Amino acid sequence: MNKPFPILNSKRLIIREMKSTDVDIVFAFNSSKDCLKYILREPFQTKNQAIEKLNFFLEANKKETAYWWVFTLKETNEDIGYGGLFDISKEHSRAEIGYGIIQKYWNKGFMSEIIDEIIHFGKSSLSLHKIYAYILNGNQASMQLLEKRGFKKEAHLKEHSFTKGKYWDETIFSLINK
Ligand SMILES: CC(C)(COP(=O)(O)OP(=O)(O)OC[C@H]1O[C@@H](n2cnc3c(N)ncnc32)[C@H](O)[C@@H]1OP(=O)(O)O)[C@@H](O)C(=O)NCCC(=O)NCCS
Repeated sequence: MNKPFPILNSKRLIIREMKSTDVDIVFAFNSSKDCLKYILREPFQTKNQAIEKLNFFLEANKKETAYWWVFTLKETNEDIGYGGLFDISKEHSRAEIGYGIIQKYWNKGFMSEIIDEIIHFGKSSLSLHKIYAYILNGNQASMQLLEKRGFKKEAHLKEHSFTKGKYWDETIFSLINK
């Protein structure tokens, strides 16, 4: 039998398992031009696109190649974003981290709370040696979030990806568990 999906807790949020009923938060985030400003995709136009994306996340959770959580405010029960660890390699003890919060909740310290719990889970429960992220140039909030937690710039990839009509530099940030 599969282990129960981990539920994490921070001061103001429950970081809970993503479910097939979570279309609204996946759509809300991915249909916003502002939320996707530094993400390699165009905003979704339809809920079907969100359903497809959600199914992809759920499949990865099932296969344990990822842990995708939804972030829910304890006080109001409102879902404010989602994220997780993905492309998990057991062989190499590493995983990529990704996250997003809907815009009205930015800059309130929510992602800082959440990422601390996710990093702790990655190190203590998955024994990850390395957690890394790709950040598009200009994404100051995401860089600040990671650098404050000890992530270091590891590589700078020039004009690495094309989206929204232009090529973007990307920086890989990583946290190595010593
Ligand atoms: C990146 C993101 C998740 C941060 O979430 P958040 O809840 O607003 O983050 P926090 O409030 O915890 O702030 C984290 C740090 O970034 C800083 N920050 C927040 N917004 C900022 C901005 N627009 N510009 C510069 N710094 C910013 C905060 O001051 C804080 O730094 P501090 O701890 O030194 O004060 C959010 O901006 C987001 O969802 N962006 C769109 C999706 C995205 O880009 N995801 C990451 C892809 S790599």
